[in-house]
Amino acid sequence: MRITLLVSFLLCYCYCIYITHASPNSLCLEDQQSLLLQFRNNLAFDPEYSFRPLEWNKSAVCCSWSGVTCDKDGHIIGLDLSYVIISGGINSSSSLFSLQHLQILYLSGINFNSSIPSGFRLVQNLIISSNLDVLDLRNNQLLGSIPQDIGSYLSSTIFLSLSNNNLHGSIPDSLCKASKLRVLDISVNNISGTISPCLMTMTGTLEVLNFGKNNLTGLIPDMFPIDCVVSTLNFHGNLLHGPIPNSLSNCSSIEVFDIGSNQIVGGFPCFLLNIPAFGVLVLRNNKFHGSIECSHSQTNEHWKMIQIVDIAFNSFNGKLPEKYFTTWDRMIHNEDDSPKMYYEDSVTVSTKGQQLEFVKILTILTVIDFSSNHFEGPIPEVLMDLKGIRVLNLSNNALYGEIPSTIGNLQQLESLDLSNNSLVGEIPVQIASLSFLSYLNLSMNHLVGMIPTGETFFVLEPLEYFVMESLKLGGLGGL
Ligand SMILES: *[C@@H]1O[C@H](CO)[C@@H](O)[C@H](O)[C@H]1NC(C)=O
Ligand SMILES: *[C@@H]1O[C@H](CO)[C@@H](O)[C@H](O)[C@H]1NC(C)=O
Ligand SMILES: *[C@@H]1O[C@H](CO)[C@@H](O)[C@H](O)[C@H]1NC(C)=O
Ligand SMILES: *[C@@H]1O[C@H](CO)[C@@H](O)[C@H](O)[C@H]1NC(C)=O
Ligand SMILES: *[C@@H]1O[C@H](CO)[C@@H](O)[C@H](O)[C@H]1NC(C)=O
Ligand SMILES: *[C@@H]1O[C@H](CO)[C@@H](O)[C@H](O)[C@H]1NC(C)=O
Ligand SMILES: *[C@@H]1O[C@H](CO)[C@@H](O)[C@H](O)[C@H]1NC(C)=O
Ligand SMILES: *[C@@H]1O[C@H](CO)[C@@H](O)[C@H](O)[C@H]1NC(C)=O
Ligand SMILES: *[C@@H]1O[C@H](CO)[C@@H](O)[C@H](O)[C@H]1NC(C)=O
Repeated sequence: MRITLLVSFLLCYCYCIYITHASPNSLCLEDQQSLLLQFRNNLAFDPEYSFRPLEWNKSAVCCSWSGVTCDKDGHIIGLDLSYVIISGGINSSSSLFSLQHLQILYLSGINFNSSIPSGFRLVQNLIISSNLDVLDLRNNQLLGSIPQDIGSYLSSTIFLSLSNNNLHGSIPDSLCKASKLRVLDISVNNISGTISPCLMTMTGTLEVLNFGKNNLTGLIPDMFPIDCVVSTLNFHGNLLHGPIPNSLSNCSSIEVFDIGSNQIVGGFPCFLLNIPAFGVLVLRNNKFHGSIECSHSQTNEHWKMIQIVDIAFNSFNGKLPEKYFTTWDRMIHNEDDSPKMYYEDSVTVSTKGQQLEFVKILTILTVIDFSSNHFEGPIPEVLMDLKGIRVLNLSNNALYGEIPSTIGNLQQLESLDLSNNSLVGEIPVQIASLSFLSYLNLSMNHLVGMIPTGETFFVLEPLEYFVMESLKLGGLGGL
């Protein structure tokens, strides 16, 4: 196999697709070159929007042309047409379909114009004709529903992204036949209906499954297999109800789990604590309840890699368990110097009063959002050891006690919201030393005394209603 697909290795969640054995210098076979040129000549560009003009120099070997990848024998195996805005010229008789060796086709963001009556007829042609390994159709305006028999044509496909189109209808069961798939991304469409149990079974081989931002209903099927290998599971922003299925605990390599903004019920998914590489948990805006303390948990090694815990807008209650935070190494250490790897799935977090969608999560982005629950008790002192944390939101709970003066430890903090609790005592002067802090809301507590002064702050409201914001923007604002 010529393609190595690294969906996820430690710290990097990006869809990295490496083509090994590609030969940029190999001679282009003549028939391949003429097919490419024929294809190129039929394309209708939209020069106003095209980022990439697709100018191919006939005097140079075609394997060196922009976006073209050949194998060592001079066959074209990859074509990257991303962000070449095409307004027409690909139909079923396009010479694209004569490129017999084509395995990888990137067509993201090419913005098929309405000149293609049903985007999916094209897609179907692509799939049937070329037996592609990688088909990337992200960010187009594909209309229509996914063909029921799509799976029959995906026997060798390992990467399929239809994300961010205008697709409706349901997810075809036939997809379950695509047994080579490692990445399946149909997020940000208008897909409705329920999720077939066999799609969960696919996590025996599927590493990234993203159904986020659709209109899916029903339960998450309780069919995660014993050999589950999924690392990213995203159901964010659907209409799913019922509990997190028990069999998900079979997925011991899961790193990103996002079921935010559904109607999921149940208690805190304690089994996730036992997954060593776990990094992103988003349960926000569901119907979870109860304590987040896990009685049977073995404390020592938990969540060393965790970087986002967003459980806001649920009915969790009880105290914030001290023992959790002591093992969150990723947040304890300031990772500023580490290489900036990221994952390309989007996760929505709330910061600075806004819902932000982070399409690329830098490993240095660290968020704890426990807001809008029923947590009570003091802010645990150990929380102040998370020196790498950037965003902390504990607002709209029933926390009491004082703000620990050790808050000055949180030198990376950019956004701190402790508003609408029952905190008492004085505002620690140490807050003034948090030099990256650009949002601070302490309003609706019972805090008294002096307002700390420091370069970063200016005070909007006097005592009892503190909202302090700095003029300095930066940090997260740039992401
Ligand atoms: C086209 O390729 C030939 C051979 O590599 C080179 O000499 C020529 O400068 C190129 N033309 C342009 C416009 O890049
Ligand atoms: C496909 O497009 C080409 C040129 O854009 C055109 O000549 C041909 O008639 C079209 N074929 C079909 C089947 O639509
Ligand atoms: C489609 O392309 C035509 C011609 O290039 C253009 O006039 C029209 O505005 C485009 N429509 C859309 C929806 O982009
Ligand atoms: C989901 O369906 C509802 C009702 O059918 C519709 O109003 C809404 O726009 C749909 N959501 C999306 C993301 O398309
Ligand atoms: C999504 O599909 C539903 C029907 O399934 C339709 O009522 C709704 O308008 C669609 N929403 C969008 C944004 O296209
Ligand atoms: C793990 O998968 C097996 C086989 O599908 C299933 O029987 C079992 O119930 C699953 N484990 C859990 C905890 O659900
Ligand atoms: C904290 O969460 C609340 C909702 O729970 C939200 O309204 C507020 O904007 C968030 N604060 C920040 C700084 O994002
Ligand atoms: C304060 O928090 C309580 C409890 O979470 C909530 O019901 C109330 O709406 C919040 N008040 C404001 C102004 O956000
Ligand atoms: C501060 O927090 C309170 C209570 O959560 C909220 O009502 C208010 O809008 C927040 N102020 C700002 C400026 O974000």
